[in-house]
Amino acid sequence: MTKSNYLMESGDESLRLELKTDDSKVVEQARWAGIKPGMRVADLGCGPGKTTAALHRLIQPNGQTIGIDFSEKRINYAENNYQEKGIAFHCRDIGQSLEDLGKFDFIWVRFVLEYHLDSATAIVDNILKILKPGGIICLIDLDNNCLNHFDIPERLERTIYNIMAILQEKSNFDPFAGRKLYSHLFTRNLADIQIKVAGHHVIYGDLEDSDAFNWLKKAEIAPQKIGFNFAEYDGGHDEFLEEFKRFFYNPARFTYSPIILSRGIKPAI
Ligand SMILES: C[S@@+](CC[C@H](N)C(=O)[O-])C[C@H]1O[C@@H](n2cnc3c(N)ncnc32)[C@H](O)[C@@H]1O
Repeated sequence: MTKSNYLMESGDESLRLELKTDDSKVVEQARWAGIKPGMRVADLGCGPGKTTAALHRLIQPNGQTIGIDFSEKRINYAENNYQEKGIAFHCRDIGQSLEDLGKFDFIWVRFVLEYHLDSATAIVDNILKILKPGGIICLIDLDNNCLNHFDIPERLERTIYNIMAILQEKSNFDPFAGRKLYSHLFTRNLADIQIKVAGHHVIYGDLEDSDAFNWLKKAEIAPQKIGFNFAEYDGGHDEFLEEFKRFFYNPARFTYSPIILSRGIKPAI
């Protein structure tokens, strides 16, 4: 995948990522993974830089953080909003060599491998080259992404499943990236592997504005990117969006995504 066909690319992507990122969750997840003051950290696929800044606070004093994303828009946003002493942002593809950036004590890759169904394995190989022996890699992704809703109309659920199936074929998107993280670490002989499964986007009752914005963007952008044919909806995409909104704004609905956190240590050579 190249930056031009990143599934969620849109003029609002920096804003979507900014709004949906909960600093307190980043802090909890990074502490769980073993981040410590003084580390040199790489935030790969850093989006608009909010996660980079949250990680950076955790490694003070004396820590350094590099945020990398292949979108110029996201890197510009990050530089305008999260640039501070000890943080540098770079517009780079994490599938290409990053070895000129030096080695890191802590590598963080959250919600990025899911966009790389075919190339996740090659990306993990590539990024392990910039992890110091004894350094920590933390991979975090969703599992069964976008597929867990109750009490959803059958037509709407069927359509969401069909969209997710086509995203795998056409957009290199992996709704099941989370369950594969352990294998990425185990097959590369990483030490002290730990896994945690938790709930992400656990949505019930009144809908918060940030969840509404995030999910409606997904329902708007992803089907457009694959030219999805809404055969069951006479009114096409618009009618689908209306049905999705009716379901999603109803406080009786329940929606959640499993999030899988994995971390391991690169053995000393
Ligand atoms: C869903 S966002 C996640 C942002 C952030 N990691 C977080 O946890 O909120 C995915 C980001 O990864 C970036 N990305 C995807 N593939 C990439 C690649 N091969 N190289 C660099 N950035 C990539 C996208 O541009 C996007 O900003």
